[in-house]
Amino acid sequence: MTQTKPSPSSGSVAHGDKLYEGKAKILYATANPDELIQYFKDDATAFNAEKKGTIVDKGIVNNKIASALFTMLEKEGVVTHFVRQLSDREMLVKKLEIVPLEVTMRNITAGGMCRMLGIEEGIVLKTPVFEWHYKSDALGDPLINDDHILAMKFATAAELDQIRKESEKINTILLAYFKKRKIDLVDFKLEFGRHKGKILLGDEISPDTCRFWEEGTKRKLDKDRFRRDMGDVESAYQEMLRRVLA
Ligand code: TMP
Repeated sequence: MTQTKPSPSSGSVAHGDKLYEGKAKILYATANPDELIQYFKDDATAFNAEKKGTIVDKGIVNNKIASALFTMLEKEGVVTHFVRQLSDREMLVKKLEIVPLEVTMRNITAGGMCRMLGIEEGIVLKTPVFEWHYKSDALGDPLINDDHILAMKFATAAELDQIRKESEKINTILLAYFKKRKIDLVDFKLEFGRHKGKILLGDEISPDTCRFWEEGTKRKLDKDRFRRDMGDVESAYQEMLRRVLA
């Protein structure tokens, strides 16, 4: 299936103005000032958009995976921006004032942690590793600590505490969820925002934002196949959707 243009309406929710276009998603206003439409594109980028491409039907797969995971997390008591899936590529979400931080949780070494410490991929970590990154494309999302965040007033101490606890809880839930599906959850990235004074989980959780390895074979079923030109990118995303829906 080829990527279609965002439709003028999605079920009962009409598109308003395009508010923001990111590398993989577009945000549209709705008639409700508290809610937005999050539209998932097939566009893929890596290494801070130095590498660009398309993963056919990625938008559909990521919307379905993220919708299923947000629904599951909500049932487990995690508050998220997810309202409901509207169509193949669209999700209705609560409007967030984004906190300019990206949280990375790591269970097995890969990617940035291997580069930073000069270590090999695939070491199972004794305890999960939590990282704050400053959300800035211009700077390449640098690793920062609590002091940077508090000094720069990116978030309050209470918000940091809440985001960290919530991220650890999400990791525990996702580890068990993917274990049942014979997937090792290597690492993932989360973003949070403020809505009516409360901190909510935002963005998406998908093969774009997580590393998933098939248990046993260690076959990569995530965006690393695109980053590293490994081939079979679309089939890996479809395989993750199949396991999430199983
Ligand atoms: P990293 O090892 O490159 O720091 O990535 C850690 C996790 O975060 C990995 O699951 C991929 C995800 N990620 C994003 O979602 N967006 C990004 O821009 C980057 C660099 C990583």
